[in-house]
Amino acid sequence: MPIRKATAVAHPNIALIKYWGNTDEALRLPASGSISMNLGGMTTRTTVEFSPDFAADSANVDGQDMTGAGLDRVSRHLDYARELAGVKQRARVSSASNFPAGAGIASSASAFAALSLAAVAALNLELSERELSSMARLGSGSASRSVPSGFVEWYGGATHETSFAETFAPAEYWALTDLIAVISREHKRTGSTEGHTLAGSSVLQQARLDTAKERLARCKAAIQHLDFASLAEIVEVDSTIMHAVMMTSVPPLFYWQPETLALMEAVREWRADGIQVLYTIDAGPNVHCICAPGHELVVQERLKSRPNVLEVLKAIPGGPAYVVADE
Ligand code: DP6
Repeated sequence: MPIRKATAVAHPNIALIKYWGNTDEALRLPASGSISMNLGGMTTRTTVEFSPDFAADSANVDGQDMTGAGLDRVSRHLDYARELAGVKQRARVSSASNFPAGAGIASSASAFAALSLAAVAALNLELSERELSSMARLGSGSASRSVPSGFVEWYGGATHETSFAETFAPAEYWALTDLIAVISREHKRTGSTEGHTLAGSSVLQQARLDTAKERLARCKAAIQHLDFASLAEIVEVDSTIMHAVMMTSVPPLFYWQPETLALMEAVREWRADGIQVLYTIDAGPNVHCICAPGHELVVQERLKSRPNVLEVLKAIPGGPAYVVADE
């Protein structure tokens, strides 16, 4: 009986052009393409073991046994790998992240990227990076972007096979730093999966989608040309447009807190004073402050001196998801 066990590591990522809303909820086909940067230094490490001895799938995440809908989501993801391999064995999944849970960093991206690579390796399947990215997308849309390295574009795509993410600039291309100002550690009331289903109920979503391609092209060009001023303009507006859609959906989703808005203003002022920093915000109140090389220390000091910032986490552009050898 072959040993069917493997471990994989993946980074979370921060979207610079956002994913919000699907054309197909089951397949997580997004309504528009998106761009992200992997968050190096932050990792999720996941081991998957298949065995005829297991009566059911089980998953332990950061020391907690999963149950209910969370475990079902993992099980469905394992089913995809089992079907490819023609295997019926149940699996034991064990996963740990080195960044704090509930700090507003989407752990589903690194979790489903690492789970995909570990499950595929454990079953000795040969999948290309593109196929792994599509597979990871089925578990969590943004996980498709945590499979390739560095600066990544996720092509929206109209089918499972054509909706995948790919590197357009390696991690070393631009030494940006993401300083994440943690404003709240509370678990968000409405998660992304539910949020995506509400996007279409906002009258602003169509306007967002009509202009999304142009913003994506401008963001990609700004990264390729190391043009921080253009990057700041486009990333901030894209983040705000997504939040405008969230706030005007039915029911509305308000993720910002007073300090979120205060920090957005502060970052714009700092930039006017010559500090190269920009903000972007995901489905939560915490503010990702992305700094050009050489500007991270002053921003870190300023963030740490704010009484409403609980903690500042730091990440640099990260590499791809990978299977850990010999485990
Ligand atoms: C606001 O990928 O977390 O962070 O596919 O339901 O798991 P699911 O959603 P998820 O959505 C991410 C939303 C976002 C923007 C982004 O990362 O592009």
